[in-house]
Amino acid sequence: MYLLIPAAGSGRRMGSNRNKLLLPLLDRPLLAWTLLAAKQSQHIHWIGIIGQPDDWQDFKEIVTSLELTKMVHLIPGGSTRQESVYRGLQGLPAIAERVLIHDGARCLATPELFDRCSEAVMNCSGLIAAIPVKDTIKVVSPGSRLIEDTPDRSRLWAAQTPQGFGVEQLLRCHAEGVRQNWEVTDDAALFEQCGLPVQIVEGEETNLKVTTPVDLAIAEFILRQRFQTSA
Ligand code: CTP
Ligand code: MG
Repeated sequence: MYLLIPAAGSGRRMGSNRNKLLLPLLDRPLLAWTLLAAKQSQHIHWIGIIGQPDDWQDFKEIVTSLELTKMVHLIPGGSTRQESVYRGLQGLPAIAERVLIHDGARCLATPELFDRCSEAVMNCSGLIAAIPVKDTIKVVSPGSRLIEDTPDRSRLWAAQTPQGFGVEQLLRCHAEGVRQNWEVTDDAALFEQCGLPVQIVEGEETNLKVTTPVDLAIAEFILRQRFQTSA
């Protein structure tokens, strides 16, 4: 399975002066944890890291430190996640039929989740990892801040990555997104806008996206717990 890792952001909400994926998490940079899970996945054999060229030297050092035997490629990212993924797709080898896309910032995803998604995407052309929403969600009017709606929680799922697709189809959806000026925060949204079906695969509660300093502290706590229980 081919894996693309968007890693070309700046980490603005983290409030750090560098890409948050290079911040330390326990004894290694955040991105190293993401790559470690990919390394341990049975199905992934090719990894494309989408990054800003300024970060490449650091990325190369991380890859070397992990002694990855899988093929790893660096692909230049864009100014939005959407643009970065589109470039990543264009950087895939021509023989790639299916692809998983997984945010570098979701550094707690397990190898089992990668494998579950890899297997499922062989039988469908669009899927995302997701978990049922725990909170009651309100739709709020931006100006007045009055609640407009309370959607039925049993139908709400929180989207995660990995997200898996047929490469040709996703490329077409991205091209359509550019033509129509769609701005989306995940790839499933492009698929949906094009009227294509996207399946849910059970995600993981601990598969959080490290976005703010609090997330970093939670990620550290979860990793410490994992080591304790596996020791
Ligand atoms: N990403 C990317 N290219 C961009 C922006 C984001 O590849 N131009 C990647 C990030 O590196 C991250 C993933 O997309 O792994 C999810 O994005 P997010 O959590 O929003 O990360 P940042 O954009 O770096 O953070 P912020 O929005 O707070 O600046
Ligand atoms: Mg962002």
